[in-house]
Amino acid sequence: MLDHGGRLREAAQRYGIPLTDWLDLSTGIAPYGWPLPPVPDSAWLRLPELDDGLEAAARDYYGVPALLPVAGSQAAIQALPRLRRQGRRVGIVSPAYAEHAEAWRREGHQVIELSEGAVERSLDRLDVLLVVNPNNPTGRLIERERLLDWHARLATRDGWLVVDEAFMDCTPEHSLGADSGLPRLVVLRSFGKFFGMAGIRLGFVLAEPEILERLNELLGPWTVSGPARVVAKALLNDVDGQRQQRERLRADGLRLALLLSAYGLAPAGGTALFQLAPHQQAVGLHGYFARRGILLRLFAETRCLRIGLPGDEAGWQRLEQALQEMPR
Ligand SMILES: Cc1ncc(COP(=O)(O)O)c(C=O)c1O
Repeated sequence: MLDHGGRLREAAQRYGIPLTDWLDLSTGIAPYGWPLPPVPDSAWLRLPELDDGLEAAARDYYGVPALLPVAGSQAAIQALPRLRRQGRRVGIVSPAYAEHAEAWRREGHQVIELSEGAVERSLDRLDVLLVVNPNNPTGRLIERERLLDWHARLATRDGWLVVDEAFMDCTPEHSLGADSGLPRLVVLRSFGKFFGMAGIRLGFVLAEPEILERLNELLGPWTVSGPARVVAKALLNDVDGQRQQRERLRADGLRLALLLSAYGLAPAGGTALFQLAPHQQAVGLHGYFARRGILLRLFAETRCLRIGLPGDEAGWQRLEQALQEMPR
């Protein structure tokens, strides 16, 4: 299993601080969201059915003709490599969310980790190109036109472009979702991050029908639970709520970037949901914050800290105080 943020129980034990006393900034998940709609008994009692309006709500939200709900985009990340014959050459624009490389390697493909600048000269030798956009953890965003150009070059040789848009909801103008009817273009969307509902385990795959059908066969029936379908449908239909969430997250993302910059942790990049701050003493600082019950995500090799959003004013004050008293 790879390392991820959000392992609060482990941190609580390691630092001897009770679970409820932590400020968890180690993930890129919105720390607030929606009052949840009631879940009817039938959603618990009966097997989920497909014509309940979830797919239609999601198609509207993502602006696409076809998609497949999955149990978190992680489920698709693990299954997609099985749709290609083993031994394909898979370029991954790196560093990026490490589960992609792991999944393609596990299924017997050859993974080539590339910098963005190396894509052009490698493209004609790749069977699959994978891009996390905007990227986690760097926040780097690649323009749509560039991605579409890469896609066109790949598609002429039956190559795939896979774009993981887990953090795209606050910048929908950069999404390739509306283009996902193009052959050999696969877009992954995560429901939990923007909607503040990581525990629901829901994501969507946007792609041409043939790829969706093959993925559906592979994953089998009832992958998304009845209660998850009810809640997600309501949130995907709530256009006003989405606008408010987007505005609040954007404002908080900016506030976080400014706060970190004011205390010597200027971000090298980020999205509305997290900032990535390089620091020579990143390892030591991670320990300093943890001892104060503030969990950040450490990238030890690149000496970076990824910092998510506090969910309330008390959290912001606590973060600011810790920044003020940080060892210089
Ligand atoms: C870039 C990226 N893609 C996909 C995922 C998987 O998210 P989920 O399975 O909750 O949709 C994550 C989780 O952190 C992520 O960071």
